[in-house]
Amino acid sequence: MSQPPIPLFNLKKQHESLKSELNAAALDALNSMHWLLGPQTEGFEKEFAEMIGVKHCISCSSGASAIQIALAAAGIGPGDEVITTPFTFIATTSSISLTGADFVFADIDPRTYNIDPQDIERKITKKTKAILPVHLYGYPADMDAIMNLAREHDLKVIEDCAQAHLATADGVRVGGIGDAGAFSFYPSKNLGACGDAGAITTNDDELADRCRSLRHSGRAKDKAYEYDLEGSTLRMDEVQAAILRVKMRHLPDWTDARQKVASWYEEGLQGLPVVTPPTPPAGYSQSYYVYTIRAEKRDELQQYLKEKGIGSAVYYPVPLYKQPAYKDMGLRPQDFPNAEKAAKEVLSIPMFPELTEEEVQRVCETIRDFYEEK
Ligand SMILES: Cc1ncc(COP(=O)(O)O)c(C=O)c1O
Repeated sequence: MSQPPIPLFNLKKQHESLKSELNAAALDALNSMHWLLGPQTEGFEKEFAEMIGVKHCISCSSGASAIQIALAAAGIGPGDEVITTPFTFIATTSSISLTGADFVFADIDPRTYNIDPQDIERKITKKTKAILPVHLYGYPADMDAIMNLAREHDLKVIEDCAQAHLATADGVRVGGIGDAGAFSFYPSKNLGACGDAGAITTNDDELADRCRSLRHSGRAKDKAYEYDLEGSTLRMDEVQAAILRVKMRHLPDWTDARQKVASWYEEGLQGLPVVTPPTPPAGYSQSYYVYTIRAEKRDELQQYLKEKGIGSAVYYPVPLYKQPAYKDMGLRPQDFPNAEKAAKEVLSIPMFPELTEEEVQRVCETIRDFYEEK
């Protein structure tokens, strides 16, 4: 008898378990006729700021807009350079470009897949105004080293937290370490809306005011038709805020469950020619947006898993310096050897809070079978 498939993500299980609460919350928001910047948004912002441990949360339309708004609010624009990683989703760099600034890549640390602080230092020029670390896969970037560099060179730090809700660095939740954090609530994320949504977190009062203005057409504080900035229409809507408030209550438990799943994998994959995610140093913890291994014969393994009904994905097969969108920039793959190698070897295997120990064992056994057969 063939066994049921194990998907990479399973949003259905979570949605089914919260369906009646989500439906009620969405309907309430709809019938309140507030649509935008009403009580649900206000409640969400207060609760999310508390959860991350920051003074301000400014909700917005997506993770991409959160990065763009945070950078612009931090004063980043044309003529400035922002140092970031090439091993990320393109929204990280396209959001920099939308501010008018240029992005500059630093290679990654081969162990954590996150931006390498030593390479950041080599890339700093007179034009550098900010560092944009991404907490990839939910593993926090080396914020200690990054904040030291930022202080030394007077740079802003905007954290891309799209994959790292509730991960911690130096004992602090990500999004509360740099000048601002940018979160995505894309449906598959650790905290996902039922559509697009995002948020900026910060402890800086003035930066928060500018973010609030920029997401709302650049509107001056408490003024109806006066604009002190040029912003855009980048707000989160009330229905998404109401949905996120329901789901947010479960986020700590979901994060614990993901960490439990990771510990089963760590055990089950021992002795195989795969590299499991690193153990974070004291004060750091990961939120496992995905569980990513480095695997010998990666493409063959992925095909084998597919044949056995097990989902997997490569994040990311084409680093950003090789993307057609950036082909005219003259970027050279040999300048990013660690990203180059990672793109050929990483594989994300099923990870979601509802995964059972038996399912994780089945994934591990299937990987074991693959290496025994090959
Ligand atoms: C690392 C990273 N940055 C930014 C984003 C952009 O978020 P969104 O899709 O909500 O715009 C994503 C998510 O898709 C992401 O994974």
